[in-house]
Amino acid sequence: MYKKMIICAAIALMASACCNNEGNSCSKETASQNNGVSFEEVLKTRRSIRSYDSSKTISEAEVRQLLTAVQEAPSWANQQPSKYYVAIGKEKLEAVQNLVGGNKDRIKNAPVLIVCTFEKGKSGFFQGNPANELGDYWGAYDNGLSNCYLILQARAMGFDTLIMGMRESDKLRELFAIPPEEMVTAVISLGYRLGEPKQPQHRPLDEVAKFF
Ligand SMILES: Cc1cc2nc3c(=O)[nH]c(=O)nc-3n(C[C@H](O)[C@H](O)[C@H](O)COP(=O)(O)O)c2cc1C
Repeated sequence: MYKKMIICAAIALMASACCNNEGNSCSKETASQNNGVSFEEVLKTRRSIRSYDSSKTISEAEVRQLLTAVQEAPSWANQQPSKYYVAIGKEKLEAVQNLVGGNKDRIKNAPVLIVCTFEKGKSGFFQGNPANELGDYWGAYDNGLSNCYLILQARAMGFDTLIMGMRESDKLRELFAIPPEEMVTAVISLGYRLGEPKQPQHRPLDEVAKFF
């Protein structure tokens, strides 16, 4: 009996040490619970937001916290080709607003705009040569994965996003001095939703997935 109690106490102590140790899975679980949203809620409430609340701001520290999520994303051979250029100051924000074509009015009150790129010739490459027919598409694939982590983490933190494929890549490259080795993909707006968005229609599961 006494031996059993000692074993139980030791297990409890180990569990509490695990949860107090920064960076381990226990502390991460606690952090996401503190945000008060379940993963299912994040998935269900994440929507493309095309109207932002101009009275709310987001700090650089919050964006930094958000971007730690992209560091967790998987990538080809852990190449981590995704890069992010964050417009958070007035001047750069205004400049980016003018480089997203017809999206301009949709994101004009978003306090943060993030330009996404990926480094070419990394994901999908082995010793400098494409590993298969997809070549640099794998970089775009990895960037999409990272961006997915970003938008879901944003929702978990109570923020909203819009991924924009309509953007002027050459001018964005110039604005942020993005090197030629990187390919500009999307611009993502970050802010707080103003009103509730329309629910998009989803294709039936049997049209999307085939079971054999
Ligand atoms: C790669 C990509 C590019 C997109 N580009 C735009 C865009 O330029 N403008 C826009 O309003 N929405 C854009 N969207 C958002 C989609 O229209 C949206 O994800 C889709 O209608 C489903 O709605 P939901 O995101 O609310 O689920 C883009 C989404 C993706 C993934």
